[in-house]
Amino acid sequence: MIPQKLSASELMELENRYGAHNYHSLPAVLESGRGVFLTDVDGKRYYDFLSSYSAVNQGHCHPKIIKTMVEQAQKLTLTSRAFYNDKLGVYEKFVTEYFGYDKVLPMNTGAEAVETALKLCRKWAYEVKGIARNEAKIVVCEGNFHGRTTTIVSFSIDPDAYNNYGPFTPGFIVIPYNDSAALEKAFAENENIAGFLVEPIQGEAGVYVPDDGYLKRCYELCRQHNALFIADEVQTGIARTGRLLACDYEDVHPDILILGKALSGGVYPVSAVLSRNEVMDCVKPGQHGSTFGGNPVAAAVAVSALEVVRDEKLADNAFRLGQIFRNRLGEFCKTSKTASFVRGKGLLNAVVINNSEQKDLAWEVCLKLAENGLLAKPTHTNIIRFAPPLVITEAQLNECIDLIIRIIDN
Ligand SMILES: Cc1ncc(COP(=O)(O)O)c(C=O)c1O
Repeated sequence: MIPQKLSASELMELENRYGAHNYHSLPAVLESGRGVFLTDVDGKRYYDFLSSYSAVNQGHCHPKIIKTMVEQAQKLTLTSRAFYNDKLGVYEKFVTEYFGYDKVLPMNTGAEAVETALKLCRKWAYEVKGIARNEAKIVVCEGNFHGRTTTIVSFSIDPDAYNNYGPFTPGFIVIPYNDSAALEKAFAENENIAGFLVEPIQGEAGVYVPDDGYLKRCYELCRQHNALFIADEVQTGIARTGRLLACDYEDVHPDILILGKALSGGVYPVSAVLSRNEVMDCVKPGQHGSTFGGNPVAAAVAVSALEVVRDEKLADNAFRLGQIFRNRLGEFCKTSKTASFVRGKGLLNAVVINNSEQKDLAWEVCLKLAENGLLAKPTHTNIIRFAPPLVITEAQLNECIDLIIRIIDN
């Protein structure tokens, strides 16, 4: 029998004993969340500067999204796609108009949406572009993170992601990130390239922002070589970087757009792949799908979550506050003994910690930040990502910056 109220250490012990150890979690045991705040089982309140890896852009438990979810959950949760339902078509019209596409294919997680995009790209390559059977190649970038499925880790260059998960799916060409000449070379050397899959900013790799013009140039190369430009905006999309999509900064309209995370405001697993008819119509009944993809709760929640982004002007807030964050942290880094530099766009930012002397310094900084009421997580050993919910106010952000600056050098 599990007793009613367990302590934080008992709860952590349960996870450690009965759960697979596939995450290295910070020791904060959370019980509730509202807006930019999380509260642990002892009543301690924290600013959330991870936003569940940018899923909670709209803030924790946004009342409008939760209301939609609860009402829909009380009415109808799942029909499967064996039948029509009264929410899916409404959502599909809404989301395609919102992002400017002909059609959407609804899935649940980010990785599933990436898999879907890869399958769509291959099908289009054989059935529209005319590449010989099983010869299609998709170009991807070093440092990528697109999820954890077997095909996706097949083209990861992170040993933690791929080690001992082989044999791997063939058909991918890995080139350096932020290097359009490498893409040009790949096209010159291979006529079977079906598409180019890219993160507009590499989030998991440590918030690597490519040079201005990189995405545009890659997009033009794809046009020139009749290949699909596939943007994985699972982390960067939906206002996180200060525009609705990170690709908007370069007026790039991806041939295939992959969304997840904040598509539901973090309340439900909802992901989506958007494209034009020529691509989407390659998939016929029975050729791809998911029991839960496009279920009525997901559909209703996604409409609400996107309405919140639009109505609360979250992209504008992220853009403005992101500049304040980088300006203040940038100044601090000039004289800091611990922090080297800050980079990012909108409210997706990272501070690079100089840890030549102490290997786990970024982790130690995050522990101290947590003690002082701010939750952030290192990505790799020396990078701390700072990505609060986009509903954060300027006063709250400045308070958090004061704290971050104080903790990093102490
Ligand atoms: C760019 C990108 N793509 C895909 C994924 C995978 O999403 P999920 O964890 O929902 O499968 C992530 C997750 O962090 C991501 O950052």
